Amino acid sequence: MSVGIDKMSFFSSDMYLDMVDLANARNEDPNKYLIGIGQKKQAVIPNTQDVVTMAANACEKIIDDDNRKKIDLIIFGTETGVDNSKSAAIYLQNMLGLSRRARAFEVKQACYGATAGLQMAKEYVTNHPDKQALVIGADIARYGIKTPGEVTQGGGAMAMVVSSNPSMLEFEGPSTFYSDDIMDFWRPLYRTEAVVDGHYSNDVYVKFFKNTWDEYKKITGLSIDDFKAMTFHLPYTKMGIKGLRAILNEADEDKQEHLKQEFEYGRKYNENVGNLYTGSLYLNVLSLLNNSTDLQTGDRIGLFSYGSGAQGEFFSMKLKDGFKNDQLADQIDTDLKNRKRVSVEEYERIFNNWIPIKDGDINLDYENDSADFFLKGVKNHQRI
Ligand code: CAA
Repeated sequence: MSVGIDKMSFFSSDMYLDMVDLANARNEDPNKYLIGIGQKKQAVIPNTQDVVTMAANACEKIIDDDNRKKIDLIIFGTETGVDNSKSAAIYLQNMLGLSRRARAFEVKQACYGATAGLQMAKEYVTNHPDKQALVIGADIARYGIKTPGEVTQGGGAMAMVVSSNPSMLEFEGPSTFYSDDIMDFWRPLYRTEAVVDGHYSNDVYVKFFKNTWDEYKKITGLSIDDFKAMTFHLPYTKMGIKGLRAILNEADEDKQEHLKQEFEYGRKYNENVGNLYTGSLYLNVLSLLNNSTDLQTGDRIGLFSYGSGAQGEFFSMKLKDGFKNDQLADQIDTDLKNRKRVSVEEYERIFNNWIPIKDGDINLDYENDSADFFLKGVKNHQRI
């Protein structure tokens, strides 16, 4: 019996900030953002969307009645929770009409939360093959206006259904992981934006990748030649290039070119949406599956997950017959194309008006939000 990802979907907002506009406003060369950072557009998340509504919008595209019967584990990975106590998973369970005979909770370890959830789901479904698990990675990446991290903001939600005999991807072999107490990126309770030591965080990321990759090769006996593609947590897409470069010299020239090409397919969604924190690795995977022209059933892909603070994990998955969902791929392309471009001033206004930090009753102007699930406001400290 195999266990893995049966369905995957993605949601982000219908507004974006163009990185050339941002570069011009910040007196930077646009090529620094487009090439040096590797980002073209950044999702601007309106106040009518938070991690719960974004997750519900992602799930709505894939959850059917059969899933409703079988899902009894809901794990919500996020570092942008809407409450310090109640988990986002409980809200989501209700909004999707999922079974109440379920375990529903939130997981936090920076951008690693969804991977923690996925690995837990793998163990659970392995032991209970008739059940399914729903794993979410949803976040809004906020560094602050006019900060070096601003160009690496973004947001959205990834949803994944983990089942036995999955149609898309199956887990294969062991994971290798590594953790250490590192102050590269964190967000104290009193802050709405991350504190980050950006260049240090890049170095730690690459170090953790090398560490887990070397251990993985030792344990499995596999080499870079056994992988059709490598996918990464992509806080910004240049970060993945830095990761890939750290191991490329293990491959011959043809293989190097091939891996670079697959990376290009894989970063397409990420470079147009920005950082999803917990969801970024899985957006990279989805982008690879939907955009690559030469993947085949049975191909092995590598996944590197990284959460600042810090936790790294490397594992592999194999492609199953239904790895590509053309209908969903077309829908994502259309949604990304139809987004509204907002000005830097409009983005700043939205950024400064972030709801989770506001006390008291709030009525939001939700009529303009085209998504099926949205936040109408807050009353008596309860989200509506
Ligand atoms: N044309 C082309 N390239 C240019 C350029 C130009 N005109 N001008 C500059 N560049 C290149 C630079 O050479 C540099 O390339 P390399 O990284 O390959 O050296 C790149 O653009 C970036 O330039 P700087 O290093 O000068 O940029 P910066 O100091 O303004 O900050 C950053 C970059 C550190 C990534 C910053 O955006 C940041 O702090 N981001 C948030 C932190 C982050 O994402 N860290 C990633 C690891 S942590 C993690 O993964 C968890 C998470 O999700 C946060």
